[in-house]
Amino acid sequence: MKILLTGGTGYIGSHTAVELIQAGFEVEILDNLANSKIAVLDKIAKITGVKPKFYEVDLLDASATDKVLRDGRFDAVIHLAGLKAVGESVEKPLIYYKNNVCGTINLLESMKRNSVNKMIFSSSATVYGDKDGIKLTEDMETGIGITNPYGETKYVIEKILMDVANSNNDFEVTILRYFNPIGAHSSGLIGEDPNGIPNNLMPIIMKVATGEIPKLMIYGDDYNTPDGTGMRDYIHVVDLAKGHVKAVEKLKPGVEVYNLGTGEATSVKEIVKAFEDVAGKELPNEVVERRAGDLAKIYADCSKAERELGWSTELNIKDAMRDTINYLRHYEG
Ligand code: NAD
Ligand code: UD1
Repeated sequence: MKILLTGGTGYIGSHTAVELIQAGFEVEILDNLANSKIAVLDKIAKITGVKPKFYEVDLLDASATDKVLRDGRFDAVIHLAGLKAVGESVEKPLIYYKNNVCGTINLLESMKRNSVNKMIFSSSATVYGDKDGIKLTEDMETGIGITNPYGETKYVIEKILMDVANSNNDFEVTILRYFNPIGAHSSGLIGEDPNGIPNNLMPIIMKVATGEIPKLMIYGDDYNTPDGTGMRDYIHVVDLAKGHVKAVEKLKPGVEVYNLGTGEATSVKEIVKAFEDVAGKELPNEVVERRAGDLAKIYADCSKAERELGWSTELNIKDAMRDTINYLRHYEG
């Protein structure tokens, strides 16, 4: 089976490419390198022995996208390309809607023109909006209380995919709602590139560990959680990548939605402790005010993916910390 992986040089995409290749899929990558580096292709080759064919194409360029689809004769598309910085999306909403929504529409039009009917889409737990402290299941209402344009783009794209599936009985789409991906490949060759100013917890911890940021600001310790800090469902990126392999193998007509998480919630303080235990040194930190828009506890019910995809996580927080530290040791910039 031949797969086009959009966003394949990015953090989750590069790990997904590795797992797909190792599972025997033929993978080609489309990315505009807006938030990734071409060197990732050599790293994928080093891990798998296969260097995927690469198209440096922006999904906003409809004719270039069409050419990739026309020439490639793909059986399925795994669509991860998108902009993902929450804060930036508040400042530059039009760029986010244009890139994520219009890019996806161009891709869907090209798929239609070239008779590619199978798609996996990377969505986010953010579509559940302001639901706090309950295990989230796929049938719960989405779209209420989303606090930023990035999250809205995921919600809108999910709607578009559902409408396309309604209009075309041959269309097969699986929406994967990721919870909080962390960690890196055990080889240390690929991981989340710590370039730029991060907003998410693990990239910030990485920068504190390397001394680029003096300390971690813990956003609030007065939440209704056992230690007062926010709790999230952190999933190792390799487990997440494996979820894509299962999802593409199980594609069927219509729309399916799956949460990809662990089913467990871990607090910020527990993450800090896990990092310190594995690193063998203290991580400077300070508790500050809550961050606007944050919730106390967000975690997934993953029983649907377990039941229907035969997928469940194999790695834990300690593995993610070990692999992150190993990746930092290998990091070449
Ligand atoms: P990433 O930024 O590392 O990867 C995204 C890739 O898409 C980048 O390589 C970027 O260059 C590319 N891209 C962006 N716009 C493009 C365009 N118009 N045309 C072609 N390529 C384009 O991010 P990631 O963490 O690997 O996330 C992958 C996907 O998963 C994204 O859609 C993201 O929204 C989604 N997601 C991520 C998280 C997370 O916490 N990392 C959580 C939920 C969902
Ligand atoms: C954030 C976004 C969410 C997006 C997701 C993945 C917000 C409000 N939510 O989710 O829309 O889908 O990233 O990109 O931005 N924390 C600290 N100090 C820090 C950073 C984070 O204490 O410097 C805490 C947060 O308060 C939270 C936890 O760490 O409790 C995880 O934060 P983060 O990694 O930003 O992910 P989410 O908030 O889950």
